[in-house]
Amino acid sequence: MKTIIKNGTLVTESETIRGDLLLENGIIQALGTGLSCEGGTEIDASGKYVLPGAVDVHTHMDLQAGPWRAVDDFYTGTVAAACGGTTAIVDHVAFGPKGCPLRHQIDQYHKLADGKAVIDYGFHGVLQHVDEGILAEMERLAREEGVTSFKAYLTYDDKLSDADLFRVLRRAGELGVIIPVHCENDGVVNYLRGYYKSRGLTDPIYHAKSRPARCEAEAVNRVLQLAAMAGDAPVYIVHLSTAAGLEEIRHARARGQKNIGVETCPQYLLLTEQAYADPREGLKAVMSPPLRTQADCEALWGGLADGTIDAVATDHCPFRFAVEKQAGLGDFTACPNGAPGVEERLPLLYSQGVAKGRISICDLVRLLCAAPSRLYGLYPQKGTLRPGADADVVILDPNAQRTLTHSGLHGAADYTCYEGMPLQGAIDLVLVRGQVAVRDNRFVGEKGAGRYLKRGRSVLAGQD
Ligand code: URP
Ligand code: ZN
Repeated sequence: MKTIIKNGTLVTESETIRGDLLLENGIIQALGTGLSCEGGTEIDASGKYVLPGAVDVHTHMDLQAGPWRAVDDFYTGTVAAACGGTTAIVDHVAFGPKGCPLRHQIDQYHKLADGKAVIDYGFHGVLQHVDEGILAEMERLAREEGVTSFKAYLTYDDKLSDADLFRVLRRAGELGVIIPVHCENDGVVNYLRGYYKSRGLTDPIYHAKSRPARCEAEAVNRVLQLAAMAGDAPVYIVHLSTAAGLEEIRHARARGQKNIGVETCPQYLLLTEQAYADPREGLKAVMSPPLRTQADCEALWGGLADGTIDAVATDHCPFRFAVEKQAGLGDFTACPNGAPGVEERLPLLYSQGVAKGRISICDLVRLLCAAPSRLYGLYPQKGTLRPGADADVVILDPNAQRTLTHSGLHGAADYTCYEGMPLQGAIDLVLVRGQVAVRDNRFVGEKGAGRYLKRGRSVLAGQD
Protein backbone atom coordinates (compact mmCIF):
# COMPACT_ATOMS: atom_id res chain seq x y z
CA MET A 1 0.00 0.00 0.00
CA LYS A 2 1.39 3.36 -1.09
CA THR A 3 0.52 6.87 0.06
CA ILE A 4 2.03 10.19 -0.88
CA ILE A 5 1.66 13.34 1.18
CA LYS A 6 2.20 16.25 -1.21
CA ASN A 7 3.42 19.82 -0.79
CA GLY A 8 3.60 19.96 2.98
CA THR A 9 6.17 21.46 5.33
CA LEU A 10 7.99 18.37 6.57
CA VAL A 11 9.46 18.88 10.03
CA THR A 12 12.41 17.16 11.65
CA GLU A 13 14.17 18.21 14.83
CA SER A 14 16.78 20.06 12.80
CA GLU A 15 15.00 21.48 9.74
CA THR A 16 11.80 22.11 7.84
CA ILE A 17 11.57 21.00 4.22
CA ARG A 18 8.86 21.98 1.72
CA GLY A 19 8.01 18.84 -0.19
CA ASP A 20 6.49 15.39 -0.33
CA LEU A 21 6.59 12.28 1.83
CA LEU A 22 6.26 8.86 0.25
CA LEU A 23 4.99 5.99 2.41
CA GLU A 24 4.92 2.34 1.40
CA ASN A 25 3.91 -0.74 3.38
CA GLY A 26 3.86 1.17 6.64
CA ILE A 27 7.35 2.62 6.23
CA ILE A 28 8.62 6.02 5.08
CA GLN A 29 10.21 5.48 1.65
CA ALA A 30 11.37 8.95 0.69
CA LEU A 31 11.25 12.69 1.39
CA GLY A 32 11.71 15.08 -1.51
CA THR A 33 10.13 17.35 -4.05
CA GLY A 34 8.15 16.27 -7.08
CA LEU A 35 7.78 12.68 -5.79
CA SER A 36 5.06 10.55 -7.36
CA CYS A 37 3.22 7.44 -6.33
CA GLU A 38 1.63 5.47 -9.15
CA GLY A 39 -1.62 3.85 -8.04
CA GLY A 40 -1.28 5.09 -4.47
CA THR A 41 -3.34 7.45 -2.35
CA GLU A 42 -2.48 11.14 -2.59
CA ILE A 43 -2.97 13.50 0.35
CA ASP A 44 -2.60 17.24 -0.20
CA ALA A 45 -0.77 18.93 2.68
CA SER A 46 -0.38 22.41 1.14
CA GLY A 47 -0.12 24.99 3.91
CA LYS A 48 0.16 22.26 6.56
CA TYR A 49 2.90 20.89 8.77
CA VAL A 50 3.80 17.24 8.34
CA LEU A 51 5.21 15.95 11.63
CA PRO A 52 6.43 12.57 12.87
CA GLY A 53 3.85 10.89 15.10
CA ALA A 54 4.47 11.96 18.69
CA VAL A 55 5.80 9.51 21.29
CA ASP A 56 4.48 9.68 24.87
CA VAL A 57 6.84 7.92 27.25
CA HIS A 58 4.78 8.54 30.40
CA THR A 59 1.24 7.19 30.43
CA HIS A 60 -0.69 5.12 32.98
CA MET A 61 -3.34 3.19 31.04
CA ASP A 62 -5.59 0.90 33.09
CA LEU A 63 -3.56 1.75 36.21
CA GLN A 64 -4.65 0.20 39.49
CA ALA A 65 -3.55 2.67 42.20
CA GLY A 66 -4.72 1.56 45.64
CA PRO A 67 -8.50 1.23 45.44
CA TRP A 68 -8.71 3.24 42.24
CA ARG A 69 -8.44 2.21 38.62
CA ALA A 70 -7.56 4.78 35.95
CA VAL A 71 -10.53 4.95 33.60
CA ASP A 72 -8.74 4.69 30.25
CA ASP A 73 -7.87 1.17 29.24
CA PHE A 74 -5.45 0.52 26.38
CA TYR A 75 -8.27 0.97 23.84
CA THR A 76 -9.84 4.25 24.96
CA GLY A 77 -6.50 5.65 26.08
CA THR A 78 -4.73 4.94 22.83
CA VAL A 79 -7.68 6.18 20.76
CA ALA A 80 -7.36 9.45 22.70
CA ALA A 81 -3.60 9.42 22.17
CA ALA A 82 -4.00 8.91 18.41
CA CYS A 83 -6.57 11.71 18.17
CA GLY A 84 -3.98 13.95 19.79
CA GLY A 85 -1.24 13.00 17.33
CA THR A 86 0.53 10.45 19.54
CA THR A 87 1.34 7.26 17.66
CA ALA A 88 3.43 5.38 20.24
CA ILE A 89 3.44 5.20 24.03
CA VAL A 90 5.69 3.68 26.67
CA ASP A 91 3.39 2.97 29.61
CA HIS A 92 4.42 2.94 33.26
CA VAL A 93 3.04 -0.30 34.66
CA ALA A 94 1.34 -0.35 38.07
CA PHE A 95 2.89 -1.84 41.19
CA GLY A 96 2.24 -5.57 41.48
CA PRO A 97 1.85 -7.77 44.56
CA LYS A 98 4.57 -7.23 47.18
CA GLY A 99 7.74 -9.11 46.34
CA CYS A 100 6.69 -10.01 42.78
CA PRO A 101 9.34 -10.36 40.09
CA LEU A 102 9.62 -7.65 37.41
CA ARG A 103 8.15 -9.96 34.82
CA HIS A 104 4.86 -10.27 36.75
CA GLN A 105 3.65 -6.79 35.81
CA ILE A 106 4.98 -7.00 32.25
CA ASP A 107 2.94 -10.18 31.75
CA GLN A 108 -0.12 -8.50 33.28
CA TYR A 109 0.26 -5.52 31.00
CA HIS A 110 0.48 -7.63 27.87
CA LYS A 111 -2.92 -9.01 28.87
CA LEU A 112 -4.25 -5.46 29.25
CA ALA A 113 -2.80 -4.02 26.06
CA ASP A 114 -2.48 -6.76 23.46
CA GLY A 115 -5.45 -6.76 21.11
CA LYS A 116 -6.69 -3.42 22.46
CA ALA A 117 -4.11 -0.73 21.73
CA VAL A 118 -4.61 1.16 18.48
CA ILE A 119 -1.06 2.58 18.40
CA ASP A 120 2.27 0.93 19.13
CA TYR A 121 3.23 0.52 22.78
CA GLY A 122 5.98 -0.52 25.12
CA PHE A 123 6.25 -0.88 28.89
CA HIS A 124 8.62 0.47 31.52
CA GLY A 125 9.29 -2.11 34.23
CA VAL A 126 8.62 -1.03 37.83
CA LEU A 127 11.03 -1.55 40.73
CA GLN A 128 9.35 -2.33 44.06
CA HIS A 129 12.19 -4.09 45.83
CA VAL A 130 15.75 -4.89 44.88
CA ASP A 131 17.60 -8.17 45.27
CA GLU A 132 19.83 -10.37 43.14
CA GLY A 133 16.81 -11.82 41.36
CA ILE A 134 15.58 -8.37 40.30
CA LEU A 135 19.04 -7.34 39.11
CA ALA A 136 19.26 -10.50 37.00
CA GLU A 137 15.76 -9.98 35.63
CA MET A 138 16.65 -6.48 34.46
CA GLU A 139 19.13 -8.01 32.05
CA ARG A 140 16.76 -10.76 30.91
CA LEU A 141 13.85 -8.39 30.29
CA ALA A 142 16.05 -5.95 28.42
CA ARG A 143 17.57 -8.62 26.21
CA GLU A 144 14.58 -10.85 25.61
CA GLU A 145 11.58 -8.52 25.86
CA GLY A 146 12.95 -5.10 24.95
CA VAL A 147 12.03 -3.67 28.35
CA THR A 148 14.99 -1.32 28.65
CA SER A 149 13.78 1.04 31.39
CA PHE A 150 12.76 0.39 35.00
CA LYS A 151 11.00 3.02 37.05
CA ALA A 152 11.82 3.81 40.66
CA TYR A 153 9.65 5.86 43.00
CA LEU A 154 11.01 7.84 45.93
CA THR A 155 7.55 8.19 47.42
CA TYR A 156 4.44 5.98 47.81
CA ASP A 157 4.41 2.62 49.62
CA ASP A 158 6.67 0.86 47.15
CA LYS A 159 9.38 3.51 47.18
CA LEU A 160 13.02 2.45 46.98
CA SER A 161 15.54 3.24 49.68
CA ASP A 162 18.64 5.19 48.69
CA ALA A 163 20.66 1.98 49.00
CA ASP A 164 18.36 0.06 46.67
CA LEU A 165 18.20 2.92 44.17
CA PHE A 166 22.00 3.12 44.18
CA ARG A 167 22.24 -0.62 43.55
CA VAL A 168 19.79 -0.39 40.66
CA LEU A 169 21.59 2.58 39.14
CA ARG A 170 24.88 0.69 39.15
CA ARG A 171 23.18 -2.19 37.43
CA ALA A 172 21.58 0.16 34.87
CA GLY A 173 25.03 1.52 34.04
CA GLU A 174 26.33 -2.01 33.44
CA LEU A 175 23.38 -2.96 31.24
CA GLY A 176 22.86 0.31 29.38
CA VAL A 177 19.24 0.56 30.53
CA ILE A 178 17.72 3.70 31.99
CA ILE A 179 16.02 4.38 35.33
CA PRO A 180 13.14 6.87 35.25
CA VAL A 181 12.60 8.22 38.77
CA HIS A 182 9.63 9.89 40.45
CA CYS A 183 11.37 12.48 42.64
CA GLU A 184 9.61 13.62 45.82
CA ASN A 185 10.86 13.55 49.41
CA ASP A 186 8.56 10.99 50.98
CA GLY A 187 9.30 11.92 54.60
CA VAL A 188 8.34 15.55 54.20
CA VAL A 189 5.30 14.79 52.04
CA ASN A 190 3.90 12.31 54.55
CA TYR A 191 4.59 14.53 57.53
CA LEU A 192 2.84 17.49 55.88
CA ARG A 193 -0.14 15.42 54.73
CA GLY A 194 -0.68 14.35 58.33
CA TYR A 195 -0.03 17.86 59.64
CA TYR A 196 -2.66 19.49 57.41
CA LYS A 197 -5.19 16.71 57.81
CA SER A 198 -4.95 16.75 61.60
CA ARG A 199 -5.77 20.48 61.54
CA GLY A 200 -8.78 20.03 59.26
CA LEU A 201 -6.98 21.63 56.32
CA THR A 202 -8.22 19.18 53.73
CA ASP A 203 -9.11 21.15 50.59
CA PRO A 204 -7.18 20.40 47.38
CA ILE A 205 -4.83 23.36 47.89
CA TYR A 206 -3.31 21.40 50.81
CA HIS A 207 -2.38 18.67 48.36
CA ALA A 208 -0.04 21.26 46.82
CA LYS A 209 1.09 22.65 50.17
CA SER A 210 1.99 19.18 51.41
CA ARG A 211 4.32 18.64 48.45
CA PRO A 212 6.44 21.81 48.37
CA ALA A 213 8.85 22.57 45.53
CA ARG A 214 11.88 21.70 47.64
CA CYS A 215 10.53 18.17 48.12
CA GLU A 216 11.09 17.74 44.42
CA ALA A 217 14.41 19.60 44.30
CA GLU A 218 15.84 17.60 47.20
CA ALA A 219 14.84 14.31 45.59
CA VAL A 220 16.14 15.36 42.15
CA ASN A 221 19.46 16.31 43.72
CA ARG A 222 19.61 13.03 45.66
CA VAL A 223 18.91 10.94 42.58
CA LEU A 224 21.47 12.80 40.51
CA GLN A 225 24.11 12.45 43.24
CA LEU A 226 23.39 8.73 43.52
CA ALA A 227 23.58 8.37 39.73
CA ALA A 228 26.90 10.22 39.73
CA MET A 229 28.24 7.95 42.48
CA ALA A 230 27.08 4.99 40.39
CA GLY A 231 29.40 6.16 37.59
CA ASP A 232 27.04 8.53 35.78
CA ALA A 233 24.42 5.83 35.50
CA PRO A 234 21.60 6.56 33.00
CA VAL A 235 18.81 8.27 34.89
CA TYR A 236 15.67 10.11 33.80
CA ILE A 237 13.74 12.59 35.92
CA VAL A 238 10.02 12.16 35.24
CA HIS A 239 7.45 14.99 35.36
CA LEU A 240 9.75 17.78 36.52
CA SER A 241 7.52 20.53 37.93
CA THR A 242 9.71 23.14 39.62
CA ALA A 243 12.31 25.80 38.93
CA ALA A 244 14.19 24.50 41.99
CA GLY A 245 14.38 21.00 40.52
CA LEU A 246 15.50 22.42 37.19
CA GLU A 247 18.37 24.21 38.94
CA GLU A 248 19.54 20.89 40.44
CA ILE A 249 19.70 19.43 36.93
CA ARG A 250 21.65 22.43 35.65
CA HIS A 251 24.10 22.04 38.54
CA ALA A 252 24.63 18.36 37.81
CA ARG A 253 25.22 19.00 34.12
CA ALA A 254 27.55 21.90 34.97
CA ARG A 255 29.55 19.51 37.20
CA GLY A 256 29.98 17.40 34.06
CA GLN A 257 27.56 14.64 34.94
CA LYS A 258 26.45 12.64 31.91
CA ASN A 259 23.52 10.38 31.12
CA ILE A 260 20.73 12.52 32.55
CA GLY A 261 17.36 12.72 30.80
CA VAL A 262 14.65 15.13 31.94
CA GLU A 263 10.93 15.27 31.26
CA THR A 264 8.20 17.74 32.04
CA CYS A 265 4.50 17.67 31.15
CA PRO A 266 2.06 20.25 29.72
CA GLN A 267 0.32 20.69 33.06
CA TYR A 268 3.54 21.99 34.66
CA LEU A 269 4.05 24.42 31.77
CA LEU A 270 0.51 25.73 31.51
CA LEU A 271 -1.39 25.35 34.79
CA THR A 272 -0.72 26.71 38.26
CA GLU A 273 -1.85 26.05 41.81
CA GLN A 274 -4.67 28.51 41.09
CA ALA A 275 -6.43 25.38 39.82
CA TYR A 276 -6.81 24.34 43.50
CA ALA A 277 -8.60 27.55 44.52
CA ASP A 278 -12.05 26.00 44.34
CA PRO A 279 -12.41 23.17 46.91
CA ARG A 280 -14.48 21.04 44.53
CA GLU A 281 -13.14 21.91 41.05
CA GLY A 282 -9.63 21.70 42.46
CA LEU A 283 -9.95 17.92 42.74
CA LYS A 284 -9.57 17.74 38.96
CA ALA A 285 -5.95 18.81 39.29
CA VAL A 286 -4.92 16.63 42.24
CA MET A 287 -1.84 14.95 40.82
CA SER A 288 1.68 14.29 42.01
CA PRO A 289 3.74 16.35 41.81
CA PRO A 290 1.15 19.12 42.21
CA LEU A 291 0.73 22.21 40.06
CA ARG A 292 3.10 25.03 41.00
CA THR A 293 3.47 28.78 40.43
CA GLN A 294 3.63 30.90 37.28
CA ALA A 295 7.35 31.41 37.96
CA ASP A 296 7.86 27.65 37.87
CA CYS A 297 5.98 27.43 34.55
CA GLU A 298 8.19 30.17 33.07
CA ALA A 299 11.35 28.47 34.31
CA LEU A 300 10.28 25.20 32.71
CA TRP A 301 9.61 26.93 29.37
CA GLY A 302 13.15 28.26 29.68
CA GLY A 303 14.37 24.72 30.32
CA LEU A 304 12.68 23.53 27.12
CA ALA A 305 14.12 26.32 25.05
CA ASP A 306 17.71 25.91 26.31
CA GLY A 307 17.70 22.10 26.15
CA THR A 308 17.89 21.41 29.91
CA ILE A 309 14.61 19.52 29.55
CA ASP A 310 14.76 16.77 26.95
CA ALA A 311 11.19 15.64 26.54
CA VAL A 312 7.56 16.53 27.17
CA ALA A 313 5.36 13.59 28.17
CA THR A 314 1.92 13.60 29.80
CA ASP A 315 1.68 11.40 32.92
CA HIS A 316 -1.81 10.62 31.60
CA CYS A 317 -3.62 9.06 34.56
CA PRO A 318 -7.35 9.79 34.17
CA PHE A 319 -10.11 9.54 36.74
CA ARG A 320 -13.66 10.82 36.45
CA PHE A 321 -14.48 14.02 38.27
CA ALA A 322 -18.06 12.86 38.87
CA VAL A 323 -16.98 9.51 40.32
CA GLU A 324 -13.44 8.69 41.52
CA LYS A 325 -12.31 12.27 42.17
CA GLN A 326 -15.26 12.90 44.51
CA ALA A 327 -13.55 10.67 47.09
CA GLY A 328 -11.28 13.64 47.75
CA LEU A 329 -14.08 16.08 48.60
CA GLY A 330 -13.28 17.30 52.09
CA ASP A 331 -10.12 15.15 52.25
CA PHE A 332 -7.43 15.69 49.62
CA THR A 333 -5.54 12.64 50.96
CA ALA A 334 -8.37 10.39 49.75
CA CYS A 335 -8.41 11.77 46.20
CA PRO A 336 -6.94 9.53 43.48
CA ASN A 337 -3.83 11.23 42.10
CA GLY A 338 -3.66 11.92 38.40
CA ALA A 339 -5.34 13.68 35.50
CA PRO A 340 -6.01 13.06 31.82
CA GLY A 341 -3.74 14.65 29.21
CA VAL A 342 -2.60 12.20 26.54
CA GLU A 343 -4.76 13.81 23.85
CA GLU A 344 -4.09 17.42 24.74
CA ARG A 345 -0.27 17.37 24.64
CA LEU A 346 0.62 18.04 20.99
CA PRO A 347 -2.19 20.58 20.36
CA LEU A 348 -1.25 22.43 23.55
CA LEU A 349 2.47 22.47 22.87
CA TYR A 350 1.88 23.64 19.32
CA SER A 351 -0.56 26.36 20.35
CA GLN A 352 1.06 27.58 23.56
CA GLY A 353 4.63 26.83 22.51
CA VAL A 354 5.18 27.15 18.77
CA ALA A 355 2.38 29.57 17.87
CA LYS A 356 3.38 31.82 20.78
CA GLY A 357 7.04 31.77 19.79
CA ARG A 358 8.27 30.03 22.97
CA ILE A 359 9.70 27.08 21.05
CA SER A 360 10.24 26.42 17.35
CA ILE A 361 8.41 23.82 15.30
CA CYS A 362 11.69 21.83 15.20
CA ASP A 363 11.87 22.03 19.01
CA LEU A 364 8.36 20.61 19.13
CA VAL A 365 9.46 17.61 17.08
CA ARG A 366 12.57 17.18 19.24
CA LEU A 367 10.65 17.35 22.54
CA LEU A 368 7.60 15.27 21.63
CA CYS A 369 8.96 12.88 19.02
CA ALA A 370 12.70 12.43 18.48
CA ALA A 371 14.10 12.84 22.00
CA PRO A 372 11.62 10.57 23.81
CA SER A 373 12.15 8.02 21.06
CA ARG A 374 15.93 8.15 21.49
CA LEU A 375 15.77 8.14 25.29
CA TYR A 376 13.65 5.02 25.33
CA GLY A 377 15.32 3.00 22.61
CA LEU A 378 12.83 3.54 19.79
CA TYR A 379 14.89 5.71 17.45
CA PRO A 380 14.89 5.84 14.43
CA GLN A 381 11.87 3.52 14.13
CA LYS A 382 9.74 6.16 15.86
CA GLY A 383 9.85 9.93 16.28
CA THR A 384 11.34 11.01 12.97
CA LEU A 385 10.56 11.47 9.29
CA ARG A 386 13.32 9.60 7.53
CA PRO A 387 13.44 6.71 5.06
CA GLY A 388 13.10 3.43 6.92
CA ALA A 389 11.20 4.87 9.89
CA ASP A 390 7.65 3.73 10.64
CA ALA A 391 5.15 5.79 8.64
CA ASP A 392 3.67 7.43 11.74
CA VAL A 393 2.67 10.89 10.56
CA VAL A 394 0.61 13.85 11.78
CA ILE A 395 -0.71 16.54 9.46
CA LEU A 396 -1.35 19.74 11.37
CA ASP A 397 -3.12 22.82 10.07
CA PRO A 398 -1.38 25.80 11.71
CA ASN A 399 -4.13 28.24 10.73
CA ALA A 400 -7.09 26.45 12.26
CA GLN A 401 -8.46 27.90 15.47
CA ARG A 402 -10.59 26.07 17.98
CA THR A 403 -11.38 25.83 21.65
CA LEU A 404 -10.25 22.90 23.74
CA THR A 405 -13.26 21.30 25.40
CA HIS A 406 -13.85 17.91 26.92
CA SER A 407 -16.65 17.30 24.42
CA GLY A 408 -14.10 17.21 21.58
CA LEU A 409 -11.85 14.64 23.29
CA HIS A 410 -11.94 10.85 23.12
CA GLY A 411 -10.73 9.43 26.46
CA ALA A 412 -12.91 8.00 29.22
CA ALA A 413 -12.41 10.84 31.70
CA ASP A 414 -15.27 13.33 32.02
CA TYR A 415 -13.20 16.52 32.01
CA THR A 416 -10.06 18.22 30.78
CA CYS A 417 -7.90 20.50 32.91
CA TYR A 418 -7.75 22.88 29.90
CA GLU A 419 -11.51 23.41 29.37
CA GLY A 420 -12.16 26.51 27.26
CA MET A 421 -8.54 27.17 26.34
CA PRO A 422 -8.32 28.69 22.83
CA LEU A 423 -6.06 26.70 20.52
CA GLN A 424 -4.15 27.79 17.47
CA GLY A 425 -3.69 24.88 15.05
CA ALA A 426 -5.55 21.61 14.64
CA ILE A 427 -4.68 18.06 13.65
CA ASP A 428 -6.18 17.11 10.26
CA LEU A 429 -4.93 13.57 9.87
CA VAL A 430 -2.93 10.94 11.77
CA LEU A 431 -1.39 7.90 10.15
CA VAL A 432 -0.11 4.92 12.11
CA ARG A 433 2.33 2.81 10.11
CA GLY A 434 0.82 4.24 6.93
CA GLN A 435 -2.84 3.63 7.83
CA VAL A 436 -5.14 6.58 8.46
CA ALA A 437 -6.13 6.33 12.13
CA VAL A 438 -7.64 9.80 12.71
CA ARG A 439 -9.45 12.05 10.25
CA ASP A 440 -11.11 15.33 11.23
CA ASN A 441 -10.98 14.46 14.93
CA ARG A 442 -12.63 11.05 14.40
CA PHE A 443 -10.86 7.81 15.15
CA VAL A 444 -11.08 5.63 12.02
CA GLY A 445 -8.41 3.05 12.89
CA GLU A 446 -8.71 -0.46 14.18
CA LYS A 447 -8.88 -1.83 17.70
CA GLY A 448 -5.83 -3.99 18.37
CA ALA A 449 -3.81 -2.61 15.44
CA GLY A 450 -1.10 -1.42 17.84
CA ARG A 451 2.01 -3.58 18.12
CA TYR A 452 4.22 -4.22 21.12
CA LEU A 453 7.52 -2.36 20.84
CA LYS A 454 10.63 -4.28 21.83
CA ARG A 455 12.88 -1.38 22.67
CA GLY A 456 16.64 -0.98 22.33
CA ARG A 457 19.15 0.83 24.52
CA SER A 458 18.54 4.36 25.60
CA VAL A 459 20.51 7.05 23.80
CA LEU A 460 21.16 10.07 26.01
CA ALA A 461 22.82 13.31 24.99
CA GLY A 462 26.41 13.20 26.23
CA GLN A 463 26.22 9.46 26.91
CA ASP A 464 29.44 7.58 27.51
O1 URP B 1 -0.58 11.90 40.17
C1 URP B 1 -0.05 11.14 39.38
N1 URP B 1 0.91 11.56 38.62
N2 URP B 1 -0.47 9.88 39.28
C2 URP B 1 0.14 8.87 38.51
C3 URP B 1 1.18 8.13 39.25
C4 URP B 1 2.46 8.93 39.34
O2 URP B 1 2.79 9.37 40.41
O3 URP B 1 3.12 9.12 38.31
ZN1 ZN C 1 3.29 8.94 36.30
